[in-house]
Amino acid sequence: MRALLSAVALLAASLPAAACAQAAPAVEDGRVAAVMAELEANRGMGVPRPDGQALKELVEEIGARRAVEIGTFRGYSGLWLALGLRKTGGTLTTYEIDPETAEVARRNFERAGVSDLVTIVVGDAHQEVTKLSGPIDLVFIDADKEGYLDYLEKLLPKVRKGGAIVAHNVRYPTPDPGFIRAIETDPRLSTTYINMDGPGLSVSRVR
Ligand SMILES: C[S@@+](CC[C@H](N)C(=O)[O-])C[C@H]1O[C@@H](n2cnc3c(N)ncnc32)[C@H](O)[C@@H]1O
Repeated sequence: MRALLSAVALLAASLPAAACAQAAPAVEDGRVAAVMAELEANRGMGVPRPDGQALKELVEEIGARRAVEIGTFRGYSGLWLALGLRKTGGTLTTYEIDPETAEVARRNFERAGVSDLVTIVVGDAHQEVTKLSGPIDLVFIDADKEGYLDYLEKLLPKVRKGGAIVAHNVRYPTPDPGFIRAIETDPRLSTTYINMDGPGLSVSRVR
């Protein structure tokens, strides 16, 4: 475990500065920007802004039309994904286990004007994702940290070649060593790490 985390830290230290962006450019859509600003004022478990920006850019880069998010919370990362999906003509399915939290997210998507792009599934994603059919272009995992490997095993077969599986918190608080080992050794994946000056994102492209 310690060796693995050291390897991740070493890799982060060797990343180019561009991969560790500190600030993200302004969001042009005023309605989305207003809701984002509100959520950033009280971020809670939401991803840092540079991580949200990276998600949007990845959606655009791979031309994702079908994105899946595990862990909606109040919808902050979902807003970033939706911004990218609006450009690609895609949609987002996002999973949240807590009904009250899901309702907060639903209102945020509505107020931001992206609810036509987003479907919230309320329930335990470990069970719910088994109902998904492929192909999926992009998966973002940001829920129960000990569940990452299970999400990977259930979703990887459904992600198209050239698609991506992104995971949050691979630097802290506690990356699951089984998940890290899987994304680094599974021959179906090619993994890099970005924004490792914060909680960290792994980006695993499907070969
Ligand atoms: C770190 S927060 C997600 C933050 C969100 N991605 C963002 O950046 O705005 C994790 C969320 O996952 C939800 N969650 C935890 N376990 C879950 C599960 N088994 N299925 C679905 N959602 C789950 C939690 O209720 C919480 O809202």
